[in-house]
Amino acid sequence: MKIVGAPINRTDGWAKVSGSARYSAEHQVAGLTCAWLVTSTIPSGRIKRVDTQEADKVPGLLLVITHENVLQLPKETKAGKLSPPIGRVLSLLQDAEVHYNNQPVAVVVAETLEAAREAASLLRIEYETAPARLNFEQAKQQVHPPEKVLTEKPDTRRGDLQAGLLSGSTSIDLTYRTPVEHHNPIEPHATIAAWEGEQLTLYDSTQYMKGVQKTVAATLGIEPEKLTVLCPYVGGGFGCKGSVWSHVVLAAMAAKMVDRPVKLVLDRPQMFGPVGQRPVTEQRMRHAAMHDGRLTASSHDTVAYTSMIEDWIEPCGLVTRMMYEVPNQETSHRLARMHLGTPTFMRAPGEASGSFALESSMDELAYELGIDPLQLRLQNYTERDPGKDLPYSSKSLRECYERGAERFGWSRRNPAPRSMREGDTLVGWGMATATYPTNRSQGKASATLHPDGRAVFRSSTQDLGTGTYTVMTQIAADALGVPVDRVEFELGNSQLPEAPVSGGSTTVASVGPAVQAAGHALRLKLAGIAIADEGSPLFGLLADEIDVHDGELFVRAEPSKREAMAAIVARHGGEPVEVEASADPGDTSEHYSMHAFGAVFVEVHVDELLGEVRVPRVVGVYGVGKLMNAKTGHSQLMGGIVGGLGMALFEETVFDLRNGRAVNGNLAEYHVPVNADIGHIEVEVVEEDDPHVNPLGAKGIGEIGITGVAAAVANAVYHATGKRIRSLPITLDKLL
Ligand code: MOS
Repeated sequence: MKIVGAPINRTDGWAKVSGSARYSAEHQVAGLTCAWLVTSTIPSGRIKRVDTQEADKVPGLLLVITHENVLQLPKETKAGKLSPPIGRVLSLLQDAEVHYNNQPVAVVVAETLEAAREAASLLRIEYETAPARLNFEQAKQQVHPPEKVLTEKPDTRRGDLQAGLLSGSTSIDLTYRTPVEHHNPIEPHATIAAWEGEQLTLYDSTQYMKGVQKTVAATLGIEPEKLTVLCPYVGGGFGCKGSVWSHVVLAAMAAKMVDRPVKLVLDRPQMFGPVGQRPVTEQRMRHAAMHDGRLTASSHDTVAYTSMIEDWIEPCGLVTRMMYEVPNQETSHRLARMHLGTPTFMRAPGEASGSFALESSMDELAYELGIDPLQLRLQNYTERDPGKDLPYSSKSLRECYERGAERFGWSRRNPAPRSMREGDTLVGWGMATATYPTNRSQGKASATLHPDGRAVFRSSTQDLGTGTYTVMTQIAADALGVPVDRVEFELGNSQLPEAPVSGGSTTVASVGPAVQAAGHALRLKLAGIAIADEGSPLFGLLADEIDVHDGELFVRAEPSKREAMAAIVARHGGEPVEVEASADPGDTSEHYSMHAFGAVFVEVHVDELLGEVRVPRVVGVYGVGKLMNAKTGHSQLMGGIVGGLGMALFEETVFDLRNGRAVNGNLAEYHVPVNADIGHIEVEVVEEDDPHVNPLGAKGIGEIGITGVAAAVANAVYHATGKRIRSLPITLDKLL
């Protein structure tokens, strides 16, 4: 069996289940102190006075840091706005302004966590409050366009929307709504900062160590080389750890001020505000179609909230730009300012929320037309990205629809709402299209062969719990030609060869090719050493006459002539042989539109009397290029679907309209699916060969799993009940 793609167990599995894997807050640092973040209790205004009198009496207290005594940052980085969107507008206590509730306003450092927390509770902060915009309905009366939507324009137009809307025989004009959601990784944000003279070490739970290194260095005004970021394990990210937020820099500043290492872990309620969230979106969808279902026009207009201090837009319209063949189309994105924390990337930002609107509206259109919802998608299928006017690098969506429909039994569906029931339970079947762009950045990796035959590959990438350690080990073993158990993959250290953010589903596509290139380069270098060595059976041959198998180089035409790689290194003075490689995306995106696609089918059971929705069955079929590991890959797609069920049925952060504080800012009341909520999930990945995306042929799978799910559930709920829920989450009160 081939190594790449094999369903091997996680190479970090043992470390995780035995507890020897250290997460950011668990590292042992001599002389460590504990910090507690203090956050604002008003949404808007300024701090008039901080009374530390009571706090100062707590035994073990080292320092209370407020805007009055904080380290002054270089003027140009005061707000911490650097290389957005990774570098964000931060709250680093440089002034007394309050822009949202739960904004960092002080840091308390003490010998113990208990002392820090107690002192923090005794701080008396007096505010001068100002009016706050906390109601989205009011805020959206005044909007502005964002500068960009990721790398795209906020607005697009092709053809003539008005003419297209008029030329259809049927049209719809509907508005969908998604709420604020929070990422809630089980491991909260956590940072340990330790200075040694001018050198700073940060243990930080992050999706992007190099981003932390660059952003924190620039904010503090030090050379990036003076800063090392370590992050061997991450207990989940979902996007909130893709940016550097205030607490990371505050930990470094606090450590400098107390001249001791400082540990700062966010309390769970502090995960609801200062570290990003999915914004409220309101999405107006218009479609018009001819009798046969062919679209004549569609538009997708998004309004989302952003904070008072920064623009961040949920890119909802991008999915509509590329999904269906439609000659006349407009999309737009607008922002409404509110006194809430800045929104950010969360689990397929844009595609998850945008596909809820697009794929719900396609279902509604199908009912208006009296066409099967799957048939409507096929009527508007396109082999070319109509927005970019480029061919897709590969697209197996037709096969995904077919396989999914077959596995699910879609043909047995009676399309009439409320037509399927089991006793008091209404049964509904719905489907939706899934998609996520195939992103890629430059990645670098090194490969070293030791004289004992061990190969060590390194890159400064991250493993969010997604399987990076495992799949990189497989790619490395395959490229070098050694068994997997002889390869170690090291990540989680910013001093290793540079890797991009583990966001946008890019890690395998970016770092994988670099690891592969490093493996090939190391193999060539070892062959070169053998060829030049009179003592080697491979002496004097040409490199392309040599092949590799199971850790040995051999002559292809005469396989008995062979030598173990380890022996070559041993004779080469016993010094490890090392190479470094870089892999670049090149200009492929100028020639192809690159996306993963899928089809998701859902069965819901709705209690007719109570309105409770259960999801006994989901089938998701995806075309994602090559899977690097069948086991971790299927798990990741399944996890995405579970996230989608959370979005569909449970997740919503509710803010107190009086003060802008999240009222369910904890894991008890911010509901995510638990085991009992999850029925049978079937994931299938179709064979797909894509030579364009990268040398591995792998499309990212981190985010596509969540996309389409919320719409498929909403569509199934309509089929079950006859009620169209256009506002997530679909809670029982909306069905009664
Ligand atoms: Mo993902 S939301 O791009 O970390």
